[in-house]
Amino acid sequence: MFKPAERLATLPTPATIAMAARARELKAQGKPVISLALGQPDFPSPNAALEGAVAEVRAGHTGYPPIPGQKPLLEAIAAKFKRDNGLDVSLEQLMVCNGGKQAIFNAFMASLNEGDEVVVPAPYWVSYPLIARMFGGVPVEVPCREEDGFRPQAEAIRSAITPRTRWLVLNFPNNPTGAILERADLEAIAAVLRDAPHVMVMSDEIYEHLTFDGKAHLSLLNVAPDLAERVLIINGMSKAYAMTGWRVGFACGPVPLIKAMIKVQGNATSGICTLAQGGAAAALREDMAGVQAMRATYERRRGVVVGALQQITGLSCAMPQGAFYAYPGLSTLMGMYSAGGRLLKDDVAFAEALLEEAHIATVPGSAFGYGPHLRLSFAAADAELAEACERLKDFVAGIKG
Ligand SMILES: Cc1ncc(COP(=O)(O)O)c(C=O)c1O
Repeated sequence: MFKPAERLATLPTPATIAMAARARELKAQGKPVISLALGQPDFPSPNAALEGAVAEVRAGHTGYPPIPGQKPLLEAIAAKFKRDNGLDVSLEQLMVCNGGKQAIFNAFMASLNEGDEVVVPAPYWVSYPLIARMFGGVPVEVPCREEDGFRPQAEAIRSAITPRTRWLVLNFPNNPTGAILERADLEAIAAVLRDAPHVMVMSDEIYEHLTFDGKAHLSLLNVAPDLAERVLIINGMSKAYAMTGWRVGFACGPVPLIKAMIKVQGNATSGICTLAQGGAAAALREDMAGVQAMRATYERRRGVVVGALQQITGLSCAMPQGAFYAYPGLSTLMGMYSAGGRLLKDDVAFAEALLEEAHIATVPGSAFGYGPHLRLSFAAADAELAEACERLKDFVAGIKG
């Protein structure tokens, strides 16, 4: 009889997995399910990426690639850091991974010992605490407040840091809230980090190009270059370039850490698929017009979706400043009943009822360590978004005490 390893057995299975399975079942039964659950752009990948991948095979690059990444892609990534972030980085500070997710996996496996603490502001993308736990790490959550725009407060981070803290995770623009950090936020956090020289920072900037209202993304290293020896930037092609299936992410950090991460990856997946690397390099070398066009579309949809959510009595919804998610709060509806008679005891029950009765798939905020909220992706077609907002309005109108 198979028994999973203890480090897996103690990991919770996210509610989202059951929800996704149920959404698939309902769809198979012919129900008109609208899925706003996935963090996946609804655009095709850039043409340059397709052509770059084809060119790679035609050039005969079909053998094992170097583990840290192919030189042309590493050079394109270094040029990207200069162009987009004003950072000068050497190729030794870079590595290419199977998505940003593997970069996170590599970093935690390369650095964590049993009992090491990883400070994670909540709401957070689900994978940080789960991956940290796989390697004996202990996630320490720092709840952000809605009234602070879901931005972590420096003093709250300071209080969460102990002698066992190994990492602070920052993810801005944030999944799931869309919060971004301004210069003053980063300066305050940098001051805390200067007082805690044993703490490394994982700065996940995968949504960097998706910011709204004319605001530009700022990296921690833009305001605190003195922290360069302790900052690992995670980024990738999935979100801004609509290249989720290509599985290309990258990391930029201090050379000793990158070397250790390369050792991990060399024992796991080896280098990343050559075609995907050719495609990613070509996409990065393009001008930013395609990315900017997608960004503008997300900004327009944000206005439509959040505008509609703000009109629904019972929901509260802040305007996200980046990424492609709305994160409405549900607290006034908890403990009530859906039109179909389901008790809405928490946000998981709410998301289940919404799926069963209105056929909208979402993710409950508690999956991100912060409920009762709902995460809705607006990386979906306009007509689907409009229909989903109508259905959600009717669903909430049918809720009774
Ligand atoms: C905040 C954040 N970081 C990293 C990732 C990883 O993306 P990928 O592995 O596709 O690069 C995701 C994907 O949902 C994400 O939301």
